[in-house]
Amino acid sequence: MPTDKIKQILAEISSATVTSPDELEAYRMRFISKKSVVGELFAMMRDIPNEQKKDFGQHINGVKQAAEDKFQELIQALNQGTKKGNTEGLDLTLPPSNLPVGGIHPLTATRQRIIEIFERIGFNLSEGPEIEDDWHNFTALNFPENHPAREMQDTFFIEKNPDVALRTHTSSVQVRVMENEKPPIRTLSPGRVFRNEAISARAHCIFHQVEGLYVDENVSFADLKQTLYHFAKEMFGKETKIRFRPSFFPFTEPSAEIDISCLICGGKGCNICKGSGWVEIGGSGMVDPNVLENCGIDSEKYTGFAFGMGIERIAMLKYQINDLRLFTENDIRFLQQFRPLL
Ligand code: PHE
Repeated sequence: MPTDKIKQILAEISSATVTSPDELEAYRMRFISKKSVVGELFAMMRDIPNEQKKDFGQHINGVKQAAEDKFQELIQALNQGTKKGNTEGLDLTLPPSNLPVGGIHPLTATRQRIIEIFERIGFNLSEGPEIEDDWHNFTALNFPENHPAREMQDTFFIEKNPDVALRTHTSSVQVRVMENEKPPIRTLSPGRVFRNEAISARAHCIFHQVEGLYVDENVSFADLKQTLYHFAKEMFGKETKIRFRPSFFPFTEPSAEIDISCLICGGKGCNICKGSGWVEIGGSGMVDPNVLENCGIDSEKYTGFAFGMGIERIAMLKYQINDLRLFTENDIRFLQQFRPLL
């Protein structure tokens, strides 16, 4: 009589455990179904000598019963586990483990920070279309027709129609605001802009700007300076210095380029600021009276200042990023560095 085999099967049955319906089914296949090891024992009955048949029969019926009892037990245990939550071996007082979370893209974070700084000093937000007409992108902004100033901003035109283009700056949004609102106007226009430029570490054909506009009675260049100085200190730290260099834009007079003291070397001179101690962050100036008049604002009564900055440029300075292409490549090794710390 194959007593060893019976003992081994009984041992397997008594030690069986299941934690899922799949495991329960595996148990059923092994010990209950027709083709199970218990089924095989019954098939062996044929070859057992007659005088041992009774004894063997009792034994294998005992195995069958044990297999079925255990099966019922396992079903109950599994049901209880799913009903109550199987808490055995779990310490429910432990803090939860953190799921991996995404981060905020550095350009979005920079845009938000810029907006926050200007909102606190009374600027509201304005947005406009990315596909613009000539009037809002150029003509209203005092770019004379066929004037070389238009070539300052290499433009993508839509289907060779010289009147429709991808906006080259968000100054176009400011024209729309001035056309529709009365001073005082204090508005910030963030958005995507497009220029036909070769892509490199320092330039891209698609990038982001934030432009600001303040029009009211008695707005002066001193207001412009102070506003941008406030911004620079809030954005880059208290020690930051600011300087203006004379420049030219068709829509502002006088115009100035805005530099901040180099964050890397603190103004001593390094390879980021090319030894000068200063880095450029944008353009600015007093709104040309022609622009105010083009938008229906009395230039005798009102004056205004405007400024424009590249969001990529500011993010690069803030986070010390040396290649603008990293912003759009979606390389997880780059993006992961801006994940919130958990
Ligand atoms: N629109 C300019 C540019 O895109 C920036 C600017 C804005 C300059 C406002 C002066 C005043 O280059």
